[in-house]
This record gives sequence, C-alpha cells and structure tokens, in this order.
Amino acid sequence: MFLRNKFCGIINKKFINKIKYLYGWINNIRKHGNIIFFDLRDRSGIIQIIIKKKIKYFYKIIKKIKNEYCIEILGIIFNRINKNINYKIFTGEIEIYILNIKILNKCKKKIINFNKKNNNEKNKLKNRIFYLRKNKIYNNFYIKNKIINIIRNFLNKNNFIEVETPILSKITLGGSKEFLTFSKNNKNKFFALAQSPQIFKQLLMISNFDRYYQIAKCFRNENLRKDRQPEFTQIDCEMSFMNKKEIIFFFEKLIKKIFKKILNINFIKPFKILKFKKSIKYYGTDKPDLRINLKLLCFKNIFFINNKYIKKIFFIKILNGSRMKIKDINYYINYINKFNIYFLIIIKIKKYFIFKKYFLKINKYINEEFFFKLLKKNNVKINDIILIFITNKKKIYKFINKLILKIGYSNFSKKNKIFINKIIPLWIINFPLFKKNNNNIKSYHHIFTSPLKKKFNKKNIFKIFSKSYDLVINGVEIGGGSIRIYKHKLQNKIFKILNINKKSIKSKFNFFLNSLKLSTPPHGGIAFGIDRLLYIILNLKSIREVIAFPKTQKFKCLLTKCPNYIK
Ligand code: AMO
Repeated sequence: MFLRNKFCGIINKKFINKIKYLYGWINNIRKHGNIIFFDLRDRSGIIQIIIKKKIKYFYKIIKKIKNEYCIEILGIIFNRINKNINYKIFTGEIEIYILNIKILNKCKKKIINFNKKNNNEKNKLKNRIFYLRKNKIYNNFYIKNKIINIIRNFLNKNNFIEVETPILSKITLGGSKEFLTFSKNNKNKFFALAQSPQIFKQLLMISNFDRYYQIAKCFRNENLRKDRQPEFTQIDCEMSFMNKKEIIFFFEKLIKKIFKKILNINFIKPFKILKFKKSIKYYGTDKPDLRINLKLLCFKNIFFINNKYIKKIFFIKILNGSRMKIKDINYYINYINKFNIYFLIIIKIKKYFIFKKYFLKINKYINEEFFFKLLKKNNVKINDIILIFITNKKKIYKFINKLILKIGYSNFSKKNKIFINKIIPLWIINFPLFKKNNNNIKSYHHIFTSPLKKKFNKKNIFKIFSKSYDLVINGVEIGGGSIRIYKHKLQNKIFKILNINKKSIKSKFNFFLNSLKLSTPPHGGIAFGIDRLLYIILNLKSIREVIAFPKTQKFKCLLTKCPNYIK
C-alpha cells in the first residue's frame, strides 16, 4: 500500500485527527510500561509513534522491529499532552497512534551510529548509506539543490542557455592533471576526461551561442585537500562582448542573490577588489581571509642594523597584542623561527618595551626617536604588539599568510576582534600571465587568458599581468575566470612562450587555432566551484559533506572500493 502523500517531518498540529500513511526507518525504540514509543525517520525529519501493548497484533510485530528497519504505518495524529511537548523538533507537539504497521524490510547489517567515537572520515565514507540517511547531511544537499535552482533562474532570466559539452575530450595539457580513458574502437588511443569545459565554451562563443552556462562535472587528477575532489561541479559560464568589469559586476549580482536567499545576508556595498600584486604585498597570498584584521606592513626608510643597510623592514601589527599570553607569543616565535627569519617583537605598554629575549639593540642602530615616529605614523597604539621581520620579500611571502592564519584563527584573535566571523567576499584581479614551474613557464590561470596589455615585453614575462579575476570568500577560492585571447596570432604567441613546440601546437591545438580564425568575438567567462560555495555557506569542515559519494585523500571510494584492477 503506497499512498504516501506526506513526509514525517512536516506533520504538525494542523493535522490533528487526520489519518495518514507514513514511511521511513525506525530511529529509536523506547518502552515505558504498557506503551512503546518509537521515532519514525524519513528525509524530512522524525515523528513520534505510539503503540499500546494491549493491542496484541501490533505488539507481536513491534517485538520483531529493530532500529533502521524500513516500515509503513497507518496512524492517527494526536496532540501531545503539555509535559511531553518537545519544542526542539517541528513535530514535537503531536504524536501518532498506530492503526496499522507493516515491516517493509529488515536491516541486516550492523548499524553504525555517528557518535563521537565513530564520527571519523573513514567511517563516514565506508558506511556512506547510513551517513547519508541522517537528516543533518541531507540538509546540505537540499540547500545545494536550492542554490542550483537560484543560479538556473538567474542565468535563464538573463538570456543564458545551458549547453552540455563533452566529457570525453582531447588530451591537451600534457596529461598530468587529466584522467585518461581508452577507446575500444580506437586502439592505443585515449580520451581525457574534461578538466573543465574551457575550450568548448570558447568554441560555443565562436559559434554564436553567446551567454552559455552549464552545471558541469569536472575531473582533475591532482592532490586532494579538504576543498578539492577529483570530480567536482562547476557553474561554468561564458559571455561575448563583455569586458572584465562588466563580467565581475554581473556575477557579483548572482553571488549576492545566493547569499540573500540562503543566509539572508545583504551585501549592500560592492565586493572589495584587490589587485594580485597588492594581495601578495599585504597577505603573501592570492586567497587572503579578510575576516582577519592582520596584514603585512612595511617601514620603508633606510635602517642600519648589524652593519648592514636595510631599505625595508616588514612588520605585522597585532591590535591589543600585549594582552596575549607569553606562552602564545612564544608559540608564534617558535613557528617563525622555522623559517629562518631575523625578527624582534616590540610591545608598547605606555612606553615602548622591547622583549628582552629578542631584543635587537634597536637604539644602537636606529635613531629611537625616528623609529617611534614611524610607529606613530603606522598607527601603532598603546597595547598593540608589532612583530618585526628583517628579511627579503621572497622569504617573507613564503610564510606570512600561514602566520596570519595561525594568529587570526586563535582564541585570542576571536576574543579581541582581530577575527570577525562573517562572510567577506573579495575579487582578486590582474594575476600574472605566467609563473615559474620548476624550470618551466606555466600559465597562472590557463593558456587562453588574455594579457592585460596588447603589447608586452617578452623579456620579462613574469611581469606581464592578465585580464583575470578570482572570487575569494573567507580565504577560499570560490571562482575564477578571465577575458580570453580571441586572436589566433596572440594565442599562437602564448603557446610559443609556454614552450609548446610546433608539432604539439599542431597536434593538440590546431582545431582551436583554426576556430579562432573564424572571426571570433571578444569573450570572457568564469567558473564557480559549487561544492566550495556550499562549503563556505554551510561552514563545513570539508567539501565531502556536499558530495554524496566522495573520494578519500588517496583517491579511493571506500564504499564501492574503487579504483580496482581490470580482471
Ligand atoms: P579553475 O580551475 O580556477 O578555472 O576552477 C574554477 C573553480 O572550480 C573550483 N575547483 C574545484 N572544486 C573542487 N575540487 C577541485 N579539485 C577544484 N578545482 C577547481 C574552484 C575554482 O575556483 N575553466 C576555468 C574557468 C574559467 O576561466 O572560466 C577553470 O576551470 O572553486
């Protein structure tokens, strides 16, 4: 009998005296004298069911029932007496008296509860069905679905169309990040699983499919982290005849809409925009977490320390840092020491007081008055601490973000408002076009990204910047995109700078260069990682909490036990 028209979790006082069929799993059986209670759970929540022992037929069945059995009940809905009301759950004011009960299926495996002891990643992945059955994680997928609907509505309203692009695609980027799969009908030849729809969305722009989007599955054979999976989903978009500013503005509206509808957060002001260069200068990273009010500053005058002239001295100011425990300060000092950096700490309590242990006789080398003037100029106040680093840019950028995050996420920072827990999005723009990769040159974003200026000096290619943009929220890269190269000559030039030889260009990219010759319109786009967006919105520990069947750090599915050998 399947006449279900209501889920358990939505039944409340409005249903009093109604008779309903309900389906679900037994959550928890309790016996109280002549009465047996159990909670019935489905994807929407739980509801309390009551059986009186006196009714022998039911009692016979209920004696066989165990947790996690799948059952059908026919029941009548009653008010709970006042003392039994449970305001914590939606169904807490009512309970159901049974008219009929049927076991639909038994649970023949050992039940795993995700209590403190069992709540580890391995258990969650191995026993995925039990884990997904719990309502808490179901809610993540409910919100994911809601966000995808908001995105579809927004894009459709703005004249985008959703187009699917191939997953079985051409091996182009050297293969290291690509999953390969063989083709039965083409001996010794392989497909690569698409890392993203990048090339195809550009081909769609050339084909007059202006305003494309796709909820696209992407596959990447790279080392995993808590915000990385080998297969994940992008909201992938591309538009023609739009410049960088217009694209940023347009997609900012979409992101604002999602935050408004899901978290009721109103971003009134435009998101902050920071050039890549500045982001590195202040935070040592292209993904700063702006919830933390700490950044790297610099005294730019000439200092004379240990017989050496030093043009710049870097420092971080910690607001009210002198309230920090010495134990904590020592912890940070030990951490910084690992990076072999010469530094000292200054605390200002009414007058400047310099940590003895780390005291570099500053007054011996620097005019004290001049130095204090610099502190004043940089707004260092009573009770602030400054950590001073005497080193070069390269060394400091290597560790400064790690230190900022370490201090920023500490309890001290939370208590002293150095860390403010809210959502802070920001655009990082104008990334370098190229970066060094061992002894090779690599694109910073990807090989189709347009340089910022038409003419650029090939002699110092690492100083060429690009028309690119990333959306970063709370230190996590949520999306990235760029204006694309749309002239085949320039594209060819970039391939050459990247040391892709003629033969490779021909075999891998001829189709693309030829397509660019077909009066390609100027175009650009962006892709957002939907799993990462959820990770931020729901404040999750890992994106595995929004992927139904994710892989482990070692690329394994513990449920299906793959990958496996071909037998
Ligand atoms: P990019 O490689 O920056 O750009 O990817 C875009 C966004 O996808 C998400 N993402 C991931 N999410 C989970 N697991 C991963 N392994 C993973 N890798 C990336 C991130 C990231 O910001 N084609 C370009 C986009 C464009 O230029 O339009 C691209 O794929 O949130």
